[in-house]
Amino acid sequence: MSRAVTVKTLMEMKREKKPIVSLTAYDYPFAKIADEAGVDVLLVGDSLGMVVQGGASTLGVTMDEMIYHTRTVARGAKRALVVGDMPFLSYQVSISEAIYNAGRFLKEAGAAAVKLEGGAAVVDRIKAMTDAGIPVQAHIGLTPQSVHQLGGYRVQRDADRLLLDAEAVESAGAFSVVLEGIPKDIAKNITAALSIPTIGIGAGRECDGQILVLHDMLGINDGHLPKFVKQYGSLRKSAVESIENYIKEVREGAFPGDEHTY
Ligand code: KIV
Repeated sequence: MSRAVTVKTLMEMKREKKPIVSLTAYDYPFAKIADEAGVDVLLVGDSLGMVVQGGASTLGVTMDEMIYHTRTVARGAKRALVVGDMPFLSYQVSISEAIYNAGRFLKEAGAAAVKLEGGAAVVDRIKAMTDAGIPVQAHIGLTPQSVHQLGGYRVQRDADRLLLDAEAVESAGAFSVVLEGIPKDIAKNITAALSIPTIGIGAGRECDGQILVLHDMLGINDGHLPKFVKQYGSLRKSAVESIENYIKEVREGAFPGDEHTY
């Protein structure tokens, strides 16, 4: 097995122009599968509020829920860097709460880094966390925790502001920045301007890496998918077929057979 991925590895990958592959994970079995498949970074995203909990947004996710999910992911990851996503209101209220909550991901859940949403507005948090020894990944562009302020899940097109945000989080000490829902040319310029890696989601192929939501790319949930999602599997279909077969066999008396009986 190749050596464990650290924040330093990601910096080297940017320098060597090796694309960084990130994926979300929310539990032990999928973390283990993604880790064994060779994913570099597993983000325990607060997207779990939607794809795992069935919520309408990410806003209701709590710190305790994030710690629980991150702990299960960390148990499944041997090589990938595990990043815990700071949920809404876990870092906005004060710098001391932000450091305390970020520290919980490392201390209680086994993450190696945290992610938070925001650019110039959160640089004091990023600096305080990195000063405390906590690696921070920033997230700019379409930031889902600000859905009400953004007026919906919309592509963000203010190139000057996005570049200022990206430069601000780099100067504050972030080891990487997620670029979500921004036009590819803006993402390309930001990627060229920064020495830290950019990880794109709906930001084109010129970023230093990519991330997708696991349940979207594996086709686990039904419903609307954004344009940037490519489905690499159809696990929902396969699960429905398996469960329908089980129901049929139980109802017909075909399961359990002799081979499943003591
Ligand atoms: O919560 C999440 O899964 C995320 C990624 C989509 C970047 O923030």
